[in-house]
Amino acid sequence: MTEPQQAANAGVPDSVAAWEERYSGSDPIWSGKPNEALVATVSSLTPGRVLDVGCGEGADVIWLAEHGWEATGIDLSQTAVDRAAEAAAAKGVTASFEVGDVSTWDPSGSQAEGEHPRRGGYDLVVGCFLHTRLPDTREELVGKVAEHVAPDGRLLLISHAEMPPWAENQDDELGHGLGHHHEPVTPNGDFALLIGGSPVRWEIDFAELRTREVEGPDGQPAELDDSVLLAHRITD
Ligand SMILES: C[S@@+](CC[C@H](N)C(=O)[O-])C[C@H]1O[C@@H](n2cnc3c(N)ncnc32)[C@H](O)[C@@H]1O
Repeated sequence: MTEPQQAANAGVPDSVAAWEERYSGSDPIWSGKPNEALVATVSSLTPGRVLDVGCGEGADVIWLAEHGWEATGIDLSQTAVDRAAEAAAAKGVTASFEVGDVSTWDPSGSQAEGEHPRRGGYDLVVGCFLHTRLPDTREELVGKVAEHVAPDGRLLLISHAEMPPWAENQDDELGHGLGHHHEPVTPNGDFALLIGGSPVRWEIDFAELRTREVEGPDGQPAELDDSVLLAHRITD
C-alpha cells in the first residue's frame, strides 16, 4: 500500500468486519430483485459458468441460475452468503455461495459440492456495485475480478457512477457503497483499468452510463447514473 493510500484508509473500518456488521445488524439490505442492467445484458448471452463477485444476498445469482447459468456467488460476509443460500433453497434453485475475498479466493479450493473451474474458468464474471477497498485500488480490484474470466468469456461491471445525493456527507465505506476512494467510476475508465493491468486481450462489447430512478431513505425520488461495462476476453 502506498503512503497516500494508507492515509486515505485511516479511520476506515475493516471491510470484512464492516460488511459483516452491516448485514448481521439488519434485516435483508437489498431488494431481492435482480439488477435490471444485468438482466438486460445477460439475456442475450449463452448460459455457461458464471461467478458473481460481491454477490450480497444473492438475488443476481439466483436469477442467473434460474436462467440456465451454473452460478456461483462469493461475498466477504458470512451473513450475506447464508441469506443468499437460504433464498436459493427457498426457491428451489441450485447455486453455490461461498464466503470469499476476490483478492485471494481460488475456485479450485472451493468447499462446495461438484466440480469447480480453475482460476480463469468462468464464461461470465459479474461485479454489481463492487465498490470496495479490497484490494486497495480500483485498478487492482478490476484486475482481480477479471482474472476469473475464461478465454472468450465476458466481464460485466455495473457500478455507481455517482453518489446518491443523500449520501454526500457520509464518509465511510458502507454508508454509500462507494468506499473511501470517492473516485468517480466510468465504464471507459473501468475498461482502461482492465486493459492496463491485464496480460490478455479485451474488447468492449459496450460501455455505457445508464440512468435509474430510485427512492432515497426518506422516500425522495432521484435519478442515479450507473456505469455499465461489458468486456469480452479475446482468445489468442
Ligand atoms: C454494495 S454491495 C452489492 C451487493 C450485490 N452485488 C448487489 O448488487 O445487491 C457490495 C458487496 O460486495 C461485497 N464485497 C466487497 N468487497 C469484496 C471483496 N473483495 N470480495 C468479495 N466480496 C466483496 C460486500 O460484502 C457486499 O456484499
